[in-house]
Amino acid sequence: MGASLSRLLESERAAFVARRPRSRELASRSAPHWLSGVPMHWMTDWGTPHPLFVAYAAGVTLTDVDGLSYTDFCLGDTGSMFGHSPPAVAAAIAAQSSRGLTCMLPDERVATVGERLAQRFRLPFWQVMQTATDANRAALRWSRAITGRSRVLVFQGCYHGTVDETMVRLRNRKTVMREGAIGPALDYANAAVAVEFNDVEALECALAADDVAAVIAEPVMTNIGMVLPAPGYLENLRERCRRHGALLILDETHTLSSGPAGYAGTHGLAPDLWVCGKAIAGGLPCAVLGFSAEIEAGMRRVLAARSGGHSGMGTTLAANPLVFAALEAALEHLHTEGTHAAMQSAASALEQGLLKEFAARGLPWHVSRVGARLEFGFGAAPRNGTEAEAAMRPDLEHALHLWLLNRGFLVTPFHNMMLTAPMLDRSAIATLCAHIGGFLDAVGRATLES
Ligand SMILES: Cc1ncc(COP(=O)(O)O)c(C=O)c1O
Repeated sequence: MGASLSRLLESERAAFVARRPRSRELASRSAPHWLSGVPMHWMTDWGTPHPLFVAYAAGVTLTDVDGLSYTDFCLGDTGSMFGHSPPAVAAAIAAQSSRGLTCMLPDERVATVGERLAQRFRLPFWQVMQTATDANRAALRWSRAITGRSRVLVFQGCYHGTVDETMVRLRNRKTVMREGAIGPALDYANAAVAVEFNDVEALECALAADDVAAVIAEPVMTNIGMVLPAPGYLENLRERCRRHGALLILDETHTLSSGPAGYAGTHGLAPDLWVCGKAIAGGLPCAVLGFSAEIEAGMRRVLAARSGGHSGMGTTLAANPLVFAALEAALEHLHTEGTHAAMQSAASALEQGLLKEFAARGLPWHVSRVGARLEFGFGAAPRNGTEAEAAMRPDLEHALHLWLLNRGFLVTPFHNMMLTAPMLDRSAIATLCAHIGGFLDAVGRATLES
């Protein structure tokens, strides 16, 4: 890290601590009882001197325990993509909360919600899980069972939750275990093959072995910066999966930002299985797994052929009445043309604003956007996960996040991703862009270009 960046970081860290005595006190009281001082270890990824404790969050405004407010472009890393506590979802949860929380029986809304999911996301069959991780794990298990094949194909730089066999990377043209995985049960590289996104030849080569049960993909990669699909690439992927007997799972947990029918619905892709978690029920733990009639027939064959026992899929609290209340309200009030139009128009304004800041300083940086989700990066837009990873500047990103936090703006702690909730106003966008411009000036050209 250069000297100017270290100085800036030091003064931002001091400013963070000085204005947050209550958070500091809660951090020191929490430290003896929680791993790394937090109830979920990712909460330390913000890189702040101590955790920021939240008092409440509504719409795009989050307020901390010291009474400081933030305009939220992180939105719980997508779980609150439609704003915190969307009123219709909050009301539905409140109404259900005294009528049963979990029963292990289908809720009375199941028929209606099934119809709405089918209509909205254009797949006839559904299951409900608690997290996108669960749904992806189930999608992969079903794919192996239906096809009788063992391997899954993932894209270099992917993230699909903490699903074992997706925790791999491509290094020196070999699929290897992803660095950092804690306590792996086995070598996941035996169960997966990783290829670069947008590389048709590599895809063909991996599929040609005819041992791939499923390709699991985000239609736009969003977990390694953002990598957009080259024109025609996803249609090509769809076609090659069919040709080689591999199923196509689209994980739209993040690309739900594309529009009310997700990326697949917006762009006319026809996955075999479709997963979406995080914001699908407005922020309550919920994920959905949609699938075609052919897959449902395959599932029935698998079920008929087995002799009983545990499937290895599902969790006790999944699909509970509280979640169904939230999911029904979200389908009616959040996954709509109007909501997405507001989000996308805000994202477009943010994209233009950022590009202006970069251009004013002669920085050849890019902004990539998938609907209401955008990401800026240093240099040209990456074409695959390896390029995206190489372009990352964790030191710069970390300093920027802290700079913005100290000025009342939250962006995700990972790379430079931002989401625009429907109630976001234009003045917040303009102020955010101005603060990013201020950061670029404070860091200085020499460091930015180094
Ligand atoms: C594309 C994608 N799929 C799945 C997941 C996992 O979601 P969860 O942690 O809610 O299981 C994530 C989390 O970031 C994700 O980005």
